[in-house]
Amino acid sequence: TKSFTIAIDGPAAAGKGTLSRLIAERYGFHHLDTGLTYRATAKALLDAGLPLDDEAVAEKIAREVELAGLDRDILSRHEIGEAASKIAVMPAVRRALVEAQRRFSTKAPGTVLDGRDIGTVVCPDAPVKLYVTASPEVRARRRYDEILGKGATADFEAIFEDVKRRDERDMGRADSPLKPADDAHLLDTSEMSIEAAFQAAQSIIDAVL
Ligand code: C5P
Repeated sequence: TKSFTIAIDGPAAAGKGTLSRLIAERYGFHHLDTGLTYRATAKALLDAGLPLDDEAVAEKIAREVELAGLDRDILSRHEIGEAASKIAVMPAVRRALVEAQRRFSTKAPGTVLDGRDIGTVVCPDAPVKLYVTASPEVRARRRYDEILGKGATADFEAIFEDVKRRDERDMGRADSPLKPADDAHLLDTSEMSIEAAFQAAQSIIDAVL
């Protein structure tokens, strides 16, 4: 059977996670948040007390990551995200995780993959590519509100600096930098609700499906 793939990329906290889940649910497609594969690799290294700068070690751990067992709650911690973006610069780690992501992308009847390099590297032939973005200020504000919403305290300036640092690392790396694919539809959610973004995404998908 054939599979239909929707590739969704963009920087941290742009809303692509929520959007990807809504799209997967709407079309009955399988969803993979590829950031979790980098996070799971990073967490396994941290838990085992292994270094984050040894490419061969990190690759071995990356090859052991089980896509079925990825849990957002366990992997959401800030230190894990930081460590993930450090090991994500290593080509051997990326090769290992991209192989698993590509296998996932062929599941029938369709798949939604979200990350940084889905439209450019993982699934360059995906019939629908979305690049979801928002200004760094808006993304930091959403993170900040989310943390306050959970009853915790947060420092807006620190979060803002963090968002910018993560962008620099993701956009500046040599292997698979974050950037829109030439044929991606840009969706700037800075002044858009999640409902509006979902509507816009559905129009794009329905025109191709
Ligand atoms: O999206 P999330 O914050 O969970 O991703 C964590 C880190 O994993 C990102 O900062 C990025 O460096 C890396 N990543 C990547 N390629 C992907 C998904 C995530 O390099 N496709």
